[in-house]
Amino acid sequence: MELKELQRLLGEMSLEEKVGQMVQIPANMLTEGGLITGPTDSIEMTQEKVSLVGALLGKTGAKELRDIQEEFVKNHPHHIPLLLMYDIINGMDTIFPIPLAMGCTFSPELVEKSAEVAAKEATAAGLHVTFSPMLDLVRDARWGRVMESTGEDPWLNSELGKAMVRGYQGSSKAAGEPLDLKKEGNIAGCIKHFAGYGLPEGGREYENVEISERTFREDYLPAYKAAAEEGCAMVMTSFNTLDRIPSTGNKWLMREVLRKEMGFDGVLISDYSAIDEMITHGIAQDSREAAKLAIMAGVDIDMVSNAYVKYLADLVCQGEVEERLIDEAVMRILKLKNDLGLFENPYKDGSEEKEKELFCCKEHRQLARKIAAASFVLLKNEQMLPLKKEATEKVAFIGPYAENVEIHGSWSFPKNPESAITIKAGAEQKKTGMTFVQGCLVLDEDQCDRYGGKQSYGEGAKDLMLAEAVMAAKNADKVVLCLGEHRNQSGEGGSRVNIRLPENQMILLREIQKVNANIVTVVFSARPLELKEVTEISKAVMLVWMPGTEGGNAIADVLFGDSMPQGRLSMSMPRSVGQVPIYYNRFSTGRPNGSGTAVGFIHGYIDESTKPLYPFGYGLSYTEFEYSKVELDKTEMCVNGTLTAKVNVKNIGALPGTETVQLYLQDVKGSVVRPVKMLRGFEKVTLQPGESGEVRFEIKESMLKFYDINMDYVSEPGLFRVFIGQDSDTENMAEFWLKK
Ligand code: NOJ
Repeated sequence: MELKELQRLLGEMSLEEKVGQMVQIPANMLTEGGLITGPTDSIEMTQEKVSLVGALLGKTGAKELRDIQEEFVKNHPHHIPLLLMYDIINGMDTIFPIPLAMGCTFSPELVEKSAEVAAKEATAAGLHVTFSPMLDLVRDARWGRVMESTGEDPWLNSELGKAMVRGYQGSSKAAGEPLDLKKEGNIAGCIKHFAGYGLPEGGREYENVEISERTFREDYLPAYKAAAEEGCAMVMTSFNTLDRIPSTGNKWLMREVLRKEMGFDGVLISDYSAIDEMITHGIAQDSREAAKLAIMAGVDIDMVSNAYVKYLADLVCQGEVEERLIDEAVMRILKLKNDLGLFENPYKDGSEEKEKELFCCKEHRQLARKIAAASFVLLKNEQMLPLKKEATEKVAFIGPYAENVEIHGSWSFPKNPESAITIKAGAEQKKTGMTFVQGCLVLDEDQCDRYGGKQSYGEGAKDLMLAEAVMAAKNADKVVLCLGEHRNQSGEGGSRVNIRLPENQMILLREIQKVNANIVTVVFSARPLELKEVTEISKAVMLVWMPGTEGGNAIADVLFGDSMPQGRLSMSMPRSVGQVPIYYNRFSTGRPNGSGTAVGFIHGYIDESTKPLYPFGYGLSYTEFEYSKVELDKTEMCVNGTLTAKVNVKNIGALPGTETVQLYLQDVKGSVVRPVKMLRGFEKVTLQPGESGEVRFEIKESMLKFYDINMDYVSEPGLFRVFIGQDSDTENMAEFWLKK
């Protein structure tokens, strides 16, 4: 449709019909079933109002959605189709690793490809919008939703956020490409949760956020901004407050920062029931006032609350809200429907044949396998890995994840969850004659109910299982212990103060150690766990996160050396939960670590180091890399100038490997305190044994900008340090001056 036709359509709509476009309901209000991702009991809506809504949440399936849409469009007074939305977070049916693991790939290319596949499968299932990318910067492993983010770094999150937008929507606005949502396989993305949701106080789910505007702008906004500039079609508000104002009613945040400063002109949706939640936050008297706050702040769609559907029209009729605001919002929604081509084809690409052809097809599984392998982070390896394929090395796989299909992460809803590849299935492709023993359940029985763990030991089975595991360990040369948290221990509503492995699994580990010290521990988790004891006991430790459909194959690939480990931590691993929030790009203090000689009066803790167990960017390979000193082509940079930094990286080990070379900058003195280091680039190099490669980075003046003492976004002249190395702890450094 032409813009003129959309305007004509808007002009023909009654106020009630327009408000309808601004309402999203859960699928179970229209049909049987559907995924419920929040409270629904408070929703009250007449059938007539239901027939006018603009969007549906939580239903997939080409046939089911076709039936719903057909009926809906037929009965709608203007035959306006529904926008069909769903949480496709790390894959639709072919499940990729959780986003935190995707962060560990440090690979925009792989992340883009995974989003492209997710979009293809999701659109085949009849969907139009996915509630992804989630670009909340995360620093606190207690928060269950760290799994949905790509990690703790603004630069990495921005690069990967842009990649997801390109993958979903098939184009990059920043690169000047036109929006092409109509094209088969493209889906509209939705940046969430705007803004700052990743910093809930104490890591408590749905908790509020306290942060300075400077840190908010410098660390938390960049990834949302980058994805908005890439052309992401939608943005979702967050549940939290900022400066004590809930985002969903925060006019400054939405109208000034998002729309004016970032130039976002797409559709803004509230999070689930977030408009009505302004009542419980205590800034709205009732649903009517909440509706007014949200529309004034610029929220276009109310996701599952009573506010818009009940009160928006009345607010206009009483002269409390200008109808112009409604028209602007509805126009944005109609435009998105038009961009998706829904007026011509309300089903978009929904097709049962396509579902059959694409869901978990060979090509998608291959990609999932490759990406999963690239996301694993090898933390420690004392000559244990890779495992030998020869029968002479006897290997026992022990633990509740040795043969477990629940490896998808909590935001994954494949048609057949059982189709995930277990470690056992993957390992048996590599070698025969190995032992596989469960040892214990993922969770002790008393925890099962709480986390929906379902399993229980039979009479006397617990001791028997342990004894069997110890016996298997005794008879093996190496033990691969497959441990992990339960998928329901993280994700939305999954905050925890104890971020260790379940205690029954720690008992298993300790018992195995008594009979066999050659332990390789493979850890499944959706957050950085407190793994100090695990890394002390084990000779090798590999994090595999929640790896998705092809998890077992990918794990076997890496364990047996058919794929080389190359993941790098996208979040720092704490030594103790008492250290969180812990992140590498913290601000310089007046008393740096180790300074001063007196006992006491030093920065940090008296009972624990300030250093993480493993820093951001860390990860081992099966080989070693040697770096030359950082070289700069000049030692002075002028305004708008650039400078080239380079290193030579050499593979000095016996196996090939892929290294993620990381560039960090430090602004030594600023008008406000600056981070000790900040990531400003990364590059992967694959090198054969003995081979060297040169890696260059262009450093631009724009990379040095920050919010100065006057809150202006500028670079300040002075000394800068350039670090290039294997992780955020690197001390390989050169210096230059920025001159004005
Ligand atoms: C609430 C979550 O915060 C959000 O991330 C999700 O997209 C919506 N529910 C819809 O399921």
